[in-house]
Amino acid sequence: MNSNVVEVTKEYYDSSDADNFYFHVWGGEDIHIGLYASDSEPIADASVRTVATMAERLSHLPSGARVLDVGAGYGGAGRYLARKHGFHVTCLNLSLAQNERNRQMNQEQNLADKVDVIDGDFENLPFEADTFDAVWSQDAILHSGNRKRVFEEIDRVLRSGGEIVLTDPMQKSGVDKEALRPVLDRIHLESMGSVADYKAFAADLGWSLRSVDLHNHQLVDHYSRVLAELRRRENSLREHCSAEYMERMQKGLAHWIEAGKQGRLEWGILHFRKG
Ligand SMILES: C[S@@+](CC[C@H](N)C(=O)[O-])C[C@H]1O[C@@H](n2cnc3c(N)ncnc32)[C@H](O)[C@@H]1O
Repeated sequence: MNSNVVEVTKEYYDSSDADNFYFHVWGGEDIHIGLYASDSEPIADASVRTVATMAERLSHLPSGARVLDVGAGYGGAGRYLARKHGFHVTCLNLSLAQNERNRQMNQEQNLADKVDVIDGDFENLPFEADTFDAVWSQDAILHSGNRKRVFEEIDRVLRSGGEIVLTDPMQKSGVDKEALRPVLDRIHLESMGSVADYKAFAADLGWSLRSVDLHNHQLVDHYSRVLAELRRRENSLREHCSAEYMERMQKGLAHWIEAGKQGRLEWGILHFRKG
């Protein structure tokens, strides 16, 4: 049983507009909020810093540990984890367009034996129980219409004592849904999770909380950088994306920046352990 949001999200990420926009603006490896060291830092560099910072939480795992990336995009994190830590990574992702690019980059970077790419939905993970040593997810679970179900699925496929490291754009608890409407509309969401929601799901599953590191200002910085990049490269991006998409994206990004500045949104790294 999956939510309607799944079909809408798949259509969105598989559209040539969205695929081309994310691929070209982020640099082809990642689609998530960066940790910026300076205002002028390239989006791709800040995006890798997010991956590296999250990966520190898994640095005690041995080479060969099995990691599942849930909502893996183009698989940049998987390749990083395989290359730097020797993990075997399974990228699970709904978007066939992104999965094709992911497989191609794994071949090109000689990592195809270390990074698997599976077409699938994180509300119904196509894996046996207790398959993975860690589950990783970046800025993906927000796309679910049933986030508790995603946590339950993660719990099922993770071995006891396994690690969960995730980031997500979230709403601050108590913010009125109507105030978030323009934010939700940009990527066809019905609602957003909050830190309190995710802690509650984790507690219900008996996971222990290792750390919550919020970097809310990075959300504002990041969307401001993406908007600036879109404006700077508007002419060349027109080769890949429709004018309507870019116009809608500019408006949508402005709503995210505004909501972030008003303190309605949160973003950060959450780390749990199963059991
Ligand atoms: C903002 S992108 C992040 C991609 C990747 N985690 C990264 O950091 O580069 C959100 C991702 O979630 C994936 N996604 C959304 N809904 C999903 C679902 N129900 N099952 C699996 N993946 C999903 C999208 O296809 C997309 O790759």
